[in-house]
Amino acid sequence: KVQPVIMAGGSGTRLWPLSRAGYPKQFLILSGNTSLFQQAASRLAALASESLELAGPSIVGNEEHRFMVLDQLREIGLEPSAVLLEPVGRNTAPALTLAALQALDGGDDPVLVVTPADQTVVDDAAFSSALQQAVTAAAGGAIAILGIRPDRPETGYGYIRAASASDGLAVAQFVEKPDAATAARYLAEGSYFWNSGMFVLRASVWLKALERFRPDIVAATRAAWDARKIDAKFVRPAKAEFGAVPSESVDYAVMERCPGSEFALRMVALDAGWNDLGAWEAVWQVAPKDAAGNASRGDAIVSDSSNTLVHATSRLVGVVGLNDVVIVETPDAVLVADRARSQDVKHIVARLNAEK
Ligand code: GDD
Ligand code: MG
Repeated sequence: KVQPVIMAGGSGTRLWPLSRAGYPKQFLILSGNTSLFQQAASRLAALASESLELAGPSIVGNEEHRFMVLDQLREIGLEPSAVLLEPVGRNTAPALTLAALQALDGGDDPVLVVTPADQTVVDDAAFSSALQQAVTAAAGGAIAILGIRPDRPETGYGYIRAASASDGLAVAQFVEKPDAATAARYLAEGSYFWNSGMFVLRASVWLKALERFRPDIVAATRAAWDARKIDAKFVRPAKAEFGAVPSESVDYAVMERCPGSEFALRMVALDAGWNDLGAWEAVWQVAPKDAAGNASRGDAIVSDSSNTLVHATSRLVGVVGLNDVVIVETPDAVLVADRARSQDVKHIVARLNAEK
């Protein structure tokens, strides 16, 4: 049996002002007709087949978003196995630990297919077939990750060096978020892939690997789990205990340390039009555009402009004679930014938080 796990507790600050603490990007409709979270859930549900028995997804997210999670799943006709609610985000390593403990509660040791909630994929068939391969590797005890061929020296991703050029590769090296010079070197070398952020592994394998590299995280998360409260589908780890869990990502806590250890890391190449919608630049990239490269959503009139992204939510937005800008209108805040600088939107959020 395979257990999908969706990590949906991030804050998405670079997509301000649409993405807010109370309504972060994974729950927004940024491409197509459903939210990124709904797209992630539907993609996973489509993995079910005669040979692959699939449980309802297990969602790990913030307490504040519990009803949004349930409503959005219901809208697409999915019933979760459980919704694990964090009182505060401690990054993905504790989140995945909660999901693993929950999965082992049933007495089995299912393969977990763990995915972020902030990505888009174009080719669903290619996605399914890559994940099937990953599930097979994970059933045999491996930690399987999905690698994307890089096309730019992005520093916001993990980099994977495969040991050989065939499929189902052994991973020789995993480097999370290298600096710009290192990323450029990896891109030039040609043998590196991006980490897609999806992990496929048995629940027990995750706990063993984390126990080996970060026993402090396992112990602290287990303490919060043992004192959990259950309310129908909602499972709440104890607040004080969970607040004391060290904050760390899956990538730093485990993936970087696997090569050369007793934990076999394998990569399956994913060629499916994958995109991480991290910043407005990426939203523009995946959006449908007019002949001059303008993309818009909502009530917008764009004239004599090129390569712009206009996202209007409550008012009509008119744009004349601008190139390469992002304009995002919401009832209480408007962003106007150079498209190439869209990563720096996080500085505005940092200033807002500092002024609070
Ligand atoms: N439940 C929960 N709790 N989920 C979280 C938390 C948390 O504290 N923090 C982040 N998440 C969720 C996010 O909502 C997202 O869906 C996913 O976990 C990944 O977190 P990000 O914060 O978006 O990670 P990243 O994009 O910086 O890096 C990861 O993804 C890249 C690909 O997009 C890494 O795995 C990189 O190696 C990878 O390249
Ligand atoms: Mg991300």
